[in-house]
Amino acid sequence: MADIGLTWVRIGEFAWGRMEPEPGRYDLDWLDRAIAVLGAAGLRVVLGTPTATPPRWMMTRHPDIAPVDREGRVRGFGSRRHYCFSHQGYRQDCARIVGLLAERYGSNPHVAAWQTDNEYACHDTTLSYSAAARDAFRNWLAQKYQSPQALNRAWGNVFWSMDYAGFDEVELPNLTVTEANPAHWMDFRRFSSDQVVSFNRLQTDIIRRHSPAPIAHNYMGRVTDFDHFGTGADLDIAAWDSYPLGFLSDRLEVTPEYKRMFIRQGDPDLQAFHHDLYRAVGRGRWWIMEQQPGPVNWAPYNPDPLPGMARLWAWEAFAHGAEAVCYFRWRQAPFAQEQQHAGLLRPDSATAPAYDEAAEVARELAAMPDVETTAAPVALVFDYASAWAWQTQPQGRDFDYFRLVFAFYRGLRRLGLSVDILPPDTADLSAYKLVLAPGVATLSDAFKTALANHDGIAILGPRTNAKTADFAIPVPLPPALPPLHCTVMRVESLPPDVPVPLARGGNFLHWREKAEGSPVLETTTDGWPALIGDRLRYLTGWPDETALARILTDACSAQGITTDTLPDGLRCRDAGKWRFWINYAAHPVTHAGRTVAGAGVLWEPR
Ligand code: GAL
Repeated sequence: MADIGLTWVRIGEFAWGRMEPEPGRYDLDWLDRAIAVLGAAGLRVVLGTPTATPPRWMMTRHPDIAPVDREGRVRGFGSRRHYCFSHQGYRQDCARIVGLLAERYGSNPHVAAWQTDNEYACHDTTLSYSAAARDAFRNWLAQKYQSPQALNRAWGNVFWSMDYAGFDEVELPNLTVTEANPAHWMDFRRFSSDQVVSFNRLQTDIIRRHSPAPIAHNYMGRVTDFDHFGTGADLDIAAWDSYPLGFLSDRLEVTPEYKRMFIRQGDPDLQAFHHDLYRAVGRGRWWIMEQQPGPVNWAPYNPDPLPGMARLWAWEAFAHGAEAVCYFRWRQAPFAQEQQHAGLLRPDSATAPAYDEAAEVARELAAMPDVETTAAPVALVFDYASAWAWQTQPQGRDFDYFRLVFAFYRGLRRLGLSVDILPPDTADLSAYKLVLAPGVATLSDAFKTALANHDGIAILGPRTNAKTADFAIPVPLPPALPPLHCTVMRVESLPPDVPVPLARGGNFLHWREKAEGSPVLETTTDGWPALIGDRLRYLTGWPDETALARILTDACSAQGITTDTLPDGLRCRDAGKWRFWINYAAHPVTHAGRTVAGAGVLWEPR
């Protein structure tokens, strides 16, 4: 590892069974030795807490520890993440093992960072419908509402005779005859997110008592079930696990042709989106904790990356401000669930193709003067609670919050722009000439004040500020942001083959709102306002690529932001004095006099 220029090694994240083979019998000599060997080679260790994999004996100790799915089925032992965040006994055991590791390694000079647990929420594990979750939810509601009458009022339980006389009567919102009250779901989602945050904080509080090293968590791609800004507040570094080919294969709404075009490279915007998101979650400090090095084992199809992609993915991360890129994994394990998952080494320890690319990146990086992060001219808000809101009440099959925000992100990147992602409680927008906040269900007071003081252009909508904090329709009707003169009177969702054309070209897809207001900047061909306002603008539908490109270009040109429409696959990112050109296309692309190799990266002074 050291020979090829790797500097960090993460270990231990699933090793509880080896650390404590029987309850109370610890065996850490092997871990002492591993850390010593790595440290002696000059490598820095990220030590993972092993709480994502409770050993088998834990299931005997706490028979009710397992998460329960929405259909009420207990999720079994035999893989990972088989615990419920609300289980108090499990939390005590977690505190014990984390305390033991923190005490033992907190001042070990080679343990230079920590990772809490592993990929919270992965495998759909945030929402658990267990008895432990139900009891904790009742307590959470009692804290929040203080009286059942207040809860009944907030949820609107007079509808369908749903009033409760006590918090003990409230069940979880699954298994109802037809849909449960959306306010009930929203509170359950908020509660479930808070449980992840407090579970993580339990660990960070303990680690900090014993260790000065920074603490990270490795988040996963397109996971919105808990508020990453919430966990992020207790961590020093936001890390994420980047599997570009797996994600293209199984978690994007793109056409089959598009998938074919990028099948060995990944989506040209998805990694960058997460880099920018996690830079925000980590308040500037972020890593890739796991970088795909070859075919993975878990997606519907698992192609081999094109030569050059392991290098490209790593460089793209550094261009977006990553402090480190680690690969998953070092050596392919020939046994158990991930035996088909590539590593930098083959199972026989010969080198696999990404090995040389990792070495090349390490050499290039060492020779490269600092690649700094620069503030982008454009900001895009990302709000986890809005993902829950529109999952709770999509009102149309295709209304997905991540999909909406990602479409805006892609629209900005096609125009050659670098983007900053902002949390929904951002109080100061003065650094940005253009701010976008599509689909934010409930705007925070801080953000409303920031909008009022912002002298750039802000584009809101569709569906922005469309719900109260209690998940009701606000009156006056949305977006209710004076002095913006705009009222959404009615909304409709539509199948993808029923577009709403805009007078200046392009369409609204999936979603459109009938609104009144002024000034009207764009209209639909059936005569409704499509874009309303002046500096603060409200967009009344979900724009397709053509409409979005025009709406964004107009706003940029009004603000003096230079745009540069990029060919398919080519993207750029400004980083300090450098401009990086990243080509996700399989073939060379020439743009404005420069040619970037297929699956290649190029940097030039800005
Ligand atoms: C991640 C996980 C790793 C490994 C990897 C396989 O989700 O953190 O432990 O399972 O995926 O791609």
